[in-house]
Amino acid sequence: MRIVSGIQPTGNLHLGNYLGAIKNWVKMQDDIAAEGGQSLYFLADLHAISMPHDPRTLSANTREMTAALVACGIDPDRSILFNQTQVPQHAELQWLLNGTARMGWLNRMTQFKDKSGKNREGASVALFTYPVLQAADVLLYQATHVPVGEDQKQHLELARDIAQKFNNDFASEDAPVFTLPDPIIPPEAARIMSLRDGSAKMSKSDPSDMARINLTDDADTIMKKVKKAKSDAEPLPSEKAGLEGRAEANNLVGIYSAMTGQSVEQILADFGGEGFGKFKPALGEVLVEKLAPINERFNELRKDYSALDAILAKGAEKARTLALPTLHAAYDALGLVRG
Ligand code: TYM
Repeated sequence: MRIVSGIQPTGNLHLGNYLGAIKNWVKMQDDIAAEGGQSLYFLADLHAISMPHDPRTLSANTREMTAALVACGIDPDRSILFNQTQVPQHAELQWLLNGTARMGWLNRMTQFKDKSGKNREGASVALFTYPVLQAADVLLYQATHVPVGEDQKQHLELARDIAQKFNNDFASEDAPVFTLPDPIIPPEAARIMSLRDGSAKMSKSDPSDMARINLTDDADTIMKKVKKAKSDAEPLPSEKAGLEGRAEANNLVGIYSAMTGQSVEQILADFGGEGFGKFKPALGEVLVEKLAPINERFNELRKDYSALDAILAKGAEKARTLALPTLHAAYDALGLVRG
């Protein structure tokens, strides 16, 4: 088994990233180490230049996101932790895969439509070819499993399509160049929604900081955000079916469930009939209690950028070694002459 996943170092790590992906990264790192498999986690800094950005902020965010991942439990001795830029094989393989990916496939990607909005002509070429780089990220390491939130599912399906077409076109059936990866999406936290709007996903790019809980928020800020979170005037139902059509209530109960490991049924058995005046402070306390140790560790780690750079450099060195055989196999399959 080989686990590979990435996160863009744009802005803070938020609760959606944590519950949708990072919590699973940590769990899978621990499970797979026991089996002798390998986990690779990276900062998708090359993806981050597909949108307008400030170079100084990007370099600082790369270090801060590294600190946040380590604070959440990614152990650089057990997982390979690095940033894409230091492993040029990602960009090289992307070019090779550009020959296999079809325009029609990329035209169907919902993220490109969402992020380019009405300004498609003004969007960067990198935003359009973004999913091909994402395919290279996982295919380069023969990833078998990719832990992500629901919003990345379409990109992972594309990675499978690219791998399959490349294998069909350029490899023999008994010696495929690429492994087809499976996404791992946590059912209870596939899509954590904004605290201000139950129909929009919690996101780094939301202009309102009140819409998300950052893993770097202190206890007072977390309490304030949860108390101000959009909800409705009804008490909580005592059965799961009663949450249907109540997007905000459903999201808040879902967060409580993902944070505590308690089932939604169990939570509603405890809070059914109670209003949000009682539920929100309880949810705030759960969040503060679970996030405080992460916050504390993060604040320690972010003081030392050179130690974080050393983690990334060491991870990149290991990643480059793992990446080379697949990259070479892809060059050879395409008939490209190497020295
Ligand atoms: P990114 O940086 O937007 O998000 C990182 C991870 O967090 C998950 N996530 C969520 N899960 C549940 N609810 C939410 N509200 C929420 N918001 C974010 C994302 O699904 C993701 O797993 N393109 C990717 C980064 C990437 C990548 C890869 C991932 C680049 N190459 C290869 C996997 C494999 C992205 O922008 O994620």
